[in-house]
Amino acid sequence: MDNRGQWESRTSFVLAAIGSAIGLGNIWRFPYICANNGGGAFLVAFLVALATAGIPILIMELSMGHKFQKAASGTMASIKPKFEILGWIVVGIAFIITTYYAAVMSWAFKYLWDAFSLAWGENTSDFFYKDTLGLTSGPLDFGGIKISLLIGLVLTWISIVACIWKGPETVGKVVYATVFIPWIILIILVIRGVTLEGASVGLLYYLKPTFSKLLEGKVWLAAYTQVFFSLSIGFAIMFAYGSYLPKKTELVTNAYIVALGDSLTAFFGGLAVFGALGYLSTQTGTPITELKASGPGLAFVVYPMIINQLPMLNTLFGILFFLMLLTLGIDSAFSLVEGVAAAIRDKFGWSHKATNIGTAAVGFTFGLLFISGAGLYWLDIIDYFMNFFGLALACLIECIVIGWIFKTTNVMKHVNAMPGFKIGKVWEIMIKFVAPVILSALLLTEIIARIKAPYEGYPRAAELMGASVMFVIIPVAAFIMTNAKAKTESETPD
Ligand code: PFF
Repeated sequence: MDNRGQWESRTSFVLAAIGSAIGLGNIWRFPYICANNGGGAFLVAFLVALATAGIPILIMELSMGHKFQKAASGTMASIKPKFEILGWIVVGIAFIITTYYAAVMSWAFKYLWDAFSLAWGENTSDFFYKDTLGLTSGPLDFGGIKISLLIGLVLTWISIVACIWKGPETVGKVVYATVFIPWIILIILVIRGVTLEGASVGLLYYLKPTFSKLLEGKVWLAAYTQVFFSLSIGFAIMFAYGSYLPKKTELVTNAYIVALGDSLTAFFGGLAVFGALGYLSTQTGTPITELKASGPGLAFVVYPMIINQLPMLNTLFGILFFLMLLTLGIDSAFSLVEGVAAAIRDKFGWSHKATNIGTAAVGFTFGLLFISGAGLYWLDIIDYFMNFFGLALACLIECIVIGWIFKTTNVMKHVNAMPGFKIGKVWEIMIKFVAPVILSALLLTEIIARIKAPYEGYPRAAELMGASVMFVIIPVAAFIMTNAKAKTESETPD
């Protein structure tokens, strides 16, 4: 059996897991999902989601990977061979998300270059949508591919493969830089964001909950899935990272550190963005609720604006900011790839390097869609289906399979034999009852909403194409499972 590799130290693991969790999700996705779902109300829902599903599932995934010493699909197969397909579906979702995650990083690469001359100028919105993306009129009008984004995408994939070249050994070193550098820069940007003129308008929207919003199911689904996305759970990765942990390790404490670090980063990122939105709203006289409509482009429009407003050293901060975005994104991106690649390696017994390069090549090819002129629309649509349905469903199924079939008591036995914090009744209730009930209700509500009207008014054809990606994952997962020389079943944990 091949050597799985192990973290050099506990710090390497914690940093890698935090590095995976903290990423574009905190600085790019969190602010616009929050803005589109009620600001302060979303924050409340986010905290509830964190306590009732996010942290319990994070503990569960790390522990299961640790117990079985396998990636997601191998772990599922160890519960019952026929569950292996569930692990592969999760791997499929992670793979699709990686493809557009890399596309967002290609924007960041392009902006890093632009930062040297502050090329975005005063109209940061036009610069992003027109000049950078060449955004077309709708998802079915594909437009062309901008060469600068193509270069960005190539660089992104090269960086990802380089970072995971030798597995935990390389990752454990890289994360020291990719976790600490972004935080320092973020603190500076937050200070500037909240001190801009009119920032209070944005901050009020961000921090003051409008409780009526909490009656909307959509807000809750957005909160739960943002928590999953942000903590990197419901994907394959935390199983794989857990499997690299040493035999005796503080599983629960590690999970708490990751969750706390991740949520604080998102909260801080939000302060900077909403401060700047308040400024923009005051300057242009546009109400904040209209500005928020920028969706996935929000960070790329708003942060350059903050950078423009800095009293000095604008270029330096521009460079630092996009460097921060890249360093934040890279360890999340490679953890996504690692989750996919680890599962493939466990199954097929391929070498580390061959699997990484193969995954990167396919990922790059799919990513071309997201850097086309219609890329932003597709990113929005696919992100919606992958997260709102794929991820929510994945977490729901995980809770049922692990909570009810494998049984929470077995997880607890493993976790509580470890040093550090223990888990008990509360954790069990969350996994067996609270999370599954809430997720089922939210999924059902959203399915009904989608039957009634397409997502964000996109054409039905585009929406169907987006949704079908989810259904393609299932046969592909089944194919991989049945056609590979089944290595997993005969394996015993090392
Ligand atoms: N948690 C990452 C972020 O917030 O940007 C995204 C992510 C990385 C999700 C890795 C899933 C994953 F496996």
